[in-house]
Amino acid sequence: MFSPHPFRNIVGLDISDSKIRFFQLHSKRNKRFLLNSYGEMPVPDGHIVSGEIKNKASLVNLLKKMFKKPNFGKVDSKYVNAALPEKKTFIKIVEIPEVPENEMKGAVKWAVEKNIPIEIEDAYYDWQIIDQPKPNDGKLNVLISVAPKNLVDSFSEVISESGFIPINLENESTAISRSLLGYSSNQNQPKIIIDLGRSRTTIMIYNYGAIQSASTLEISGHEMTKLVSTTLDLNYQDAEKAKIISGLDQKKSKGIVRKVLEPIILSLISKINENLVFYDNYVTKKSSIDSIILTGSVSRMFGIDTFLQDKLKMKVSIGNPLVNVNLPKDSKQLPPNNLYSFTTAIGLAIKEIK
Ligand SMILES: Nc1ncnc2c1ncn2[C@@H]1O[C@H](COP(=O)(O)OP(=O)(O)OP(=O)(O)O)[C@@H](O)[C@H]1O
Ligand SMILES: [Mg+2]
Repeated sequence: MFSPHPFRNIVGLDISDSKIRFFQLHSKRNKRFLLNSYGEMPVPDGHIVSGEIKNKASLVNLLKKMFKKPNFGKVDSKYVNAALPEKKTFIKIVEIPEVPENEMKGAVKWAVEKNIPIEIEDAYYDWQIIDQPKPNDGKLNVLISVAPKNLVDSFSEVISESGFIPINLENESTAISRSLLGYSSNQNQPKIIIDLGRSRTTIMIYNYGAIQSASTLEISGHEMTKLVSTTLDLNYQDAEKAKIISGLDQKKSKGIVRKVLEPIILSLISKINENLVFYDNYVTKKSSIDSIILTGSVSRMFGIDTFLQDKLKMKVSIGNPLVNVNLPKDSKQLPPNNLYSFTTAIGLAIKEIK
């Protein structure tokens, strides 16, 4: 009864196509957390493809190495909360009839079966009732999240084989929203959150305390560098440098890099607009989306926030993944320039597991 909560200092693990990362915190009072350890390690090409583990043995070795030699601190928990790739999972608001509590499970199962693209026997699913305006009488809004069994099992296996205990696996978008919005923000105001990563972009709609939809796009930091490389005839490394130095600046390199990147950003804008229309048409709501939060390291691109803000005519900001976290005095080593890469891992680490 008096023993410390075993899952309190849980390790948040983000396995992405090109990097594995973790973040581990110690709980403090008032829902603040103190950084205890974090680490990051590159993953060779082809070992994880679109979030799917292709080379288990090598990934297990990398995880063991990363946990043994963190970039900061020392890992002092065996418990892991990991993110599942958004593209391979599925979240949706569905309507179910308002049934007595003992019939809920069956009603949800029926709704899941009707809505998912795979057989229910091959899936794990989770659900919660969403406290939002009801679509019409006698119906409840239920948020379902579904993941293929073989995906969940393969993630659990690599975590176990690297010497840790998988406690929870969740959609990446849920972890991201927890990290950026914390516990105190205006959670009832609908927002779009966009994770701009190296291998993909995810657009999420957040409302009523939960991510209500998430779509993954091919737009990525890698694609941007490749386009700079082919258009300006630079090798990949030089193109990466040019992209980072100039970004969307009109003055740097006479605006040439901006010109190359603009069509990609415009296609992102058209996808954001599709999401705004979707939200306006299909989701029961009290108010419209009026702000966007960016995360992922591509959000550091010079001028991307103002570019989106001007075109979309709504507030665009870069999210702070440390809203819930205190840094120890000696953690100068936390690289501020790739903090946004850790948004997912931080959100996983602050999940309260009972
Ligand atoms: N200042 C910058 N301007 C433009 N792009 C940047 C900048 N800094 C980093 N990037 C890009 O951010 C990308 C890395 O983002 P991030 O670390 O969030 O991705 P990831 O989590 O490893 O991958 P993913 O989430 O897509 O699986 C790289 O393509 C990198 O070029
Ligand atoms: Mg990422």
